[in-house]
Amino acid sequence: MKKLSIIASTLILVACGSAKIISISQADVDRAATKYPGITSEQLVEGQKLYAANCAKCHTLFAPGKFGEKRWKHEIEEMSGKDYANIDSKTQESITKYILTFAKQ
Ligand code: HEC
Repeated sequence: MKKLSIIASTLILVACGSAKIISISQADVDRAATKYPGITSEQLVEGQKLYAANCAKCHTLFAPGKFGEKRWKHEIEEMSGKDYANIDSKTQESITKYILTFAKQ
C-alpha cells in the first residue's frame, strides 16, 4: 500500500512539474543567436542534454518557460555550485544558453 502511494505521488509530480523535451527549430536557433551570436542548433541540443543529465537528480526538470531570465540566471548560478549539481563553468554556460533561449519572456 505504501509503495503504491509512492508510485502515485511520483506520477503526479512528473505529470505536473516536468519539462517536455523541446524540439529545437531554426526559429529557436535564430532567436538564440540574437543573444549568443553564432550559436548552432547542435549547441542548443547539447545544452538541453546537459540540463537533463545534471539537473533532474534531485527534483523534476523545470520547464525553461517556467521562469524569466533574471530568475533563471540566479537559480542556475546557485544550482551549479558544489552543494547542488557541482558542474564546471563550461557545462553551466551550455545549460544557461539552452534555458535562456526558452525562458519566459
Ligand atoms: C543535489 C540536488 C540538486 C541538483 C543536482 C539540482 N538541484 Fe535544483 N534544487 C535542489 C533543492 C534542494 C532545491 C530547493 C531549495 C533551494 O532553492 O535551495 C532546488 C531548487 C531549484 C529551483 C527552484 C524551483 C522553485 O520553484 O523555486 C530551480 C529552478 C532549480 N533547482 C534548478 C536546477 C538546475 C537548473 C539544476 C542543474 C544545474 C539543478 N537544479 C540541480 C536540489 C538540486
